[in-house]
Amino acid sequence: MDLLVVGSGFFGLTIAERVANELDLKVVVIDRRDHIGGNAYSEAEPETGIEVHRYGAHLFHTSNPSVWEYVNRFTTFTNYVHKVYTNHGGEIFPLPFNLHTINQFFRSAHGPASARELIAEQASELTPGEAANLEEKAISLIGRPLYEAFVRDYTAKQWQTDPTELPAEVISRLPVRYTYDNRYFNDTWEGLPTDGYTAWIERMADHPNIEVRLSTDFFDESQPLNKAALVGRVPIIYTGPIDRYFDFAEGELGWRTLDFEQEVLPTGDYQGTTVMNYADSEVPYTRIHEFRHFHPERDDYPTDKTVIMREFSRFAERGDEPYYPVNTPEDRARLLAYRELGKAEEGVFFGGRLGTYQYLDMHMAIGSALSMYENKLKPALGTDA
Ligand code: FDA
Repeated sequence: MDLLVVGSGFFGLTIAERVANELDLKVVVIDRRDHIGGNAYSEAEPETGIEVHRYGAHLFHTSNPSVWEYVNRFTTFTNYVHKVYTNHGGEIFPLPFNLHTINQFFRSAHGPASARELIAEQASELTPGEAANLEEKAISLIGRPLYEAFVRDYTAKQWQTDPTELPAEVISRLPVRYTYDNRYFNDTWEGLPTDGYTAWIERMADHPNIEVRLSTDFFDESQPLNKAALVGRVPIIYTGPIDRYFDFAEGELGWRTLDFEQEVLPTGDYQGTTVMNYADSEVPYTRIHEFRHFHPERDDYPTDKTVIMREFSRFAERGDEPYYPVNTPEDRARLLAYRELGKAEEGVFFGGRLGTYQYLDMHMAIGSALSMYENKLKPALGTDA
């Protein structure tokens, strides 16, 4: 083995693929889960065959030409365009905030200029720089009426915390579009892998130089590919949680996690769209995903059954899946301390969303793996193999 990769998510697999393919070196990829692909993993729900994203809905989008070129080596993409709606007060509104949302909410017919004036006037109640908490920051960006309807209760559910007790920095912007465009992403390319995430991910790992070992934990000393046995002996890419690597020596980094409640319903279509947010506090979940709508082009899905997934959000405890960094000032201080420890760890490269304690979209995880490969690994591993 020339390289050990800990974690078979997009970061780890991109590195493994490049090193195996371009440098012709032997790579072993381990993952403590019983499947590859990290959080992008998807599988067919057994009763319906509908592709379900086990760790929450994953939509691919990017404006990075090198990433787009790279991912197209392994999969084609459908022409799916992501759109999100929200249920507030028994009415359905389109998101992100756009002219349709504004006019429906205010029962008005504003054009772009007068809508802009309206929101600016409502937001003038507070100045962004002086906001003492998330509530004040949001009001300073979009005004009180839109905040109270669409942001306050949803944010409280996401964080289990009243927005007046959340730091203003949790949101930097709340985009408002003064057009009727409600495409969720602004990127040049978007779509879903035509034959699913798992088929894409498996093609990345399908190389004679790559060996994948599942249900293998890097910290389990009863198996041979563990930290104590290998650090300093073979180069390692580590994409697990950075605090766990150092045995939480500087304290635990805070994460939010999600609980998913999946259900097969006896109807061909439950909500008519992929994602419906629930903005109000009376509904305990934040959103419902209906997976059949991610692939309207598939004609083998049943017409009398559908799969939905309700999403609930809460702070993670040790043992929960870490999903979104909380990023308090204490977390940031701890992260800096871990980064220093990481620099001193000879031959170990920390990457991916858990290894760097950052929310990364898939294209960002892949892009940062490609640049780590070019800038650090290729020079370190050499091309004399
Ligand atoms: P990832 O978490 O995928 O992989 C890390 C792997 O390391 C895991 O498989 C884990 O089991 C393994 N591991 C950890 N510790 C280990 C140990 N001790 N030993 C062995 N293995 C270990 N992005 C996007 O572009 N569009 C989207 O719509 C979404 N949606 C989305 C929803 C939700 C709920 C989340 C949380 C995230 C998204 N994402 C997303 C982000 C996407 O999931 C993310 O970009 C990738 O998972 C990043 O890949 P990584 O390889 O960095 O981590």
